[in-house]
Amino acid sequence: MTGLSVAASAAIVSAAGLHRIMHERRSIRRYRADPVGRDVLDRLFLSAAMAPSAHNRQPWRYLVVEDAAEKQALARAMGERLDADRRRDGDAADAIARDVARSYARITGAPVVILVCLTLEEADVYPDGARAQAEFLMAVQSTAMATQNLLLGAHAEGLAACWMCAPLFCADVVRASLDVPAHWQPQGLVTLGVAADQGRDRPRKPLPAFVRYMSEPHAT
Ligand SMILES: Cc1cc2nc3c(=O)[nH]c(=O)nc-3n(C[C@H](O)[C@H](O)[C@H](O)COP(=O)(O)O)c2cc1C
Repeated sequence: MTGLSVAASAAIVSAAGLHRIMHERRSIRRYRADPVGRDVLDRLFLSAAMAPSAHNRQPWRYLVVEDAAEKQALARAMGERLDADRRRDGDAADAIARDVARSYARITGAPVVILVCLTLEEADVYPDGARAQAEFLMAVQSTAMATQNLLLGAHAEGLAACWMCAPLFCADVVRASLDVPAHWQPQGLVTLGVAADQGRDRPRKPLPAFVRYMSEPHAT
């Protein structure tokens, strides 16, 4: 056992059930005010941690923000950086204002905001840039896999979530706003809660667009 309660692990998920969870999950960006219990959050993180990771170093780290004032301060600081960056890009003021307001609403409107980070504290150290980059990418890949577990687990729990990439663009702002441990590198935010809408169906590419079999199918 890895921390799941007997009750939680007793539900055997069939292949069809698991595929259904993967197919049904949607990014949801608006939430009801209902809080999310710590028991549910712990289950999600324990399942996240069952993801494979390079050398089993488990580089993912999660900072959970539930306090309204902390979410507001984070959203405000991120919005200010977005505003400054977009002004420098020469974007229209009303379009910038809309995006800043939307980002603020998403972060402050989510009962739970999870800062997704990675750490290289336990990563192998190489003298050359190419291998150091590969080691870093393995940590990114492992952290993404863990976070996908979290997103699927959330859906299976009847919750909704959405990954936001913004912290990648303003890691210093996120650090200044939240008490992020020094070795934790911000990768994204996951907003989490009970869905206030159904989201949108985003079409996926057909199989031949992204899979190429190197040989003919085996006779069955
Ligand atoms: C790495 C990553 C970054 C993302 N960043 C954002 C984001 O900043 N804002 C947002 O609304 N959605 C973001 N998304 C969600 C995608 O837009 C969404 O997954 C995609 O459109 C497919 O929709 P679905 O998740 O509902 O199937 C991100 C997803 C990933 C994996």
